[in-house]
Amino acid sequence: MELSLLLLISSILLLSFFYRTFLFFKRAPLLKPTKSTVLEGYPIIGNLPLFIKNRRRILDWVAELIPTSPTGTVTVAPIVFTANPSNVEHLARTNFDNYPKADDVVATLHDFFGRGILIANGEEWRFQRKAASFEFNTKSLRAFVLDKVRHETVHRLIPLLKRAGRSGEVLDLQDVLERFAFDNICSLVFGEDPKCLSRESEEGEKFYHVFHEASELIVQRAMRPFSLIWKLGKWLDIGSEKRLRKSLEIVHGFVDKFIRSRREQIRGGGDFLSRFAADGTRSDEFIRDILISFVLAGRDTTPTALTWFFWVLSSKPEVVEKIREEIKSIRSRHGNYDSEVLTLDQLREMGYLHAAVSESLRLYPPVPLLLRKSKGEDELPDGTRVGKGWTVMYSPYAMGRAEGIWGQDCGEFRPERWMEDEVFQPTSPFRYTVFHAGPRMCLGKDMAYIQMKAVAASILEAFEVEVVEKRGKYQLSMTMRMEGGLPVRIQERSI
Ligand code: HEM
Repeated sequence: MELSLLLLISSILLLSFFYRTFLFFKRAPLLKPTKSTVLEGYPIIGNLPLFIKNRRRILDWVAELIPTSPTGTVTVAPIVFTANPSNVEHLARTNFDNYPKADDVVATLHDFFGRGILIANGEEWRFQRKAASFEFNTKSLRAFVLDKVRHETVHRLIPLLKRAGRSGEVLDLQDVLERFAFDNICSLVFGEDPKCLSRESEEGEKFYHVFHEASELIVQRAMRPFSLIWKLGKWLDIGSEKRLRKSLEIVHGFVDKFIRSRREQIRGGGDFLSRFAADGTRSDEFIRDILISFVLAGRDTTPTALTWFFWVLSSKPEVVEKIREEIKSIRSRHGNYDSEVLTLDQLREMGYLHAAVSESLRLYPPVPLLLRKSKGEDELPDGTRVGKGWTVMYSPYAMGRAEGIWGQDCGEFRPERWMEDEVFQPTSPFRYTVFHAGPRMCLGKDMAYIQMKAVAASILEAFEVEVVEKRGKYQLSMTMRMEGGLPVRIQERSI
């Protein structure tokens, strides 16, 4: 997902150069002027200086550009940036078929993502979406997810935090949460627990590192200014392309082993592998692509979200207190004082925690920028013209900080904006685009909330979390991770 952004930054330089050169020689506008803002670049070099200046702060740059437009849309041809909810609805739903995932992005990611749901288009995507939607909506899956979260929390996370509390050691909370999420997503997807949080398994640790390495290397590939560079490296089998090939071979080896063992056992389980492999009609390679896509979708997103959540809370003690009060009142209402993790129904009742997590996601969306390619010429609802083959992007990061959408206090972390009469009030996904919207909306949204709320409640109830170094800078990777991690000191609370 975030790779799309990185690929865009690199390819944008090339596209802009060719497009401006073409305009310069043609000396006539290609499309009618629009109501939205159009950035006119220099002859020949176009907007190249702007892109170079802002390349390391593209998210903030887009967030600054958007308010300069009366409609919240800025054209830097052949790219359109929009933060206009009507435009987003048009891209994501109304004219969905005109805006598939871009071919160049798909080609760059294919070696890792295969034909999996995250980059599939057309019938291949439709088939996976239908099958996965069915599975994601089953009650048994939700119960399975919470069961795994509970096990990981009670047997690994809480003991680890208690130990850190006693020793006074500084922990990187981002690393802890990423290991937690990897154990969780692997149990859910393959039915295999790599035990990364407790570092109990050598094989699990190897799988964790090699998966991480392959992700980093594919990000590096996507950052290359010209795709020819990585294609040549791949053909010659040198440098980072050679390392990527090797790490992907190991990742594939692990996943193939999981698939083979599940086919042999023919035992039903709650995990995706058992569910997808059950009918035996799909090739192992296709199942591998599907499974890897789910791991990629769930591996970095929730830990990134929770890392920013704890970072934001470190300067909001009054919000922490309110969450603790909510946990207390739910426990006393249900007479539940023993278990360290709340039940599914109790988590659902936690409207204020839901609001606080949503508010943190609004300001720090794990997937901060999304892009689509226009198959044909089009006009967006605000009058912006889109040329055939152009890229249209919208940014959950910029939209989450747009005054036109959230009001004058858009920069403030205020969970109360989501509450009415103490009940959480959802908003339109075309406004709040953190989980995307329309037919390709995130399939794991409910599951992600269950995980995030369960982990947040368990930590906040039992521990004080002190952030020892205030960094708070984002790093563009698969998701919008926190640069350098989140160093914290833990102290056990007496409840
Ligand atoms: C806070 C956590 C999460 C956030 C913010 C998030 C956000 C997103 C976004 C923005 C997309 C659209 C990507 C695109 O089209 O380029 C997406 C797609 C997807 N997400 Fe999530 N996600 C989260 C957690 C999860 C989890 C835990 C899973 C479970 C495995 C998951 C599964 C998926 C899948 C399968 C898709 C592809 C849907 C499709 O293309 O039809 N997500 N997510």
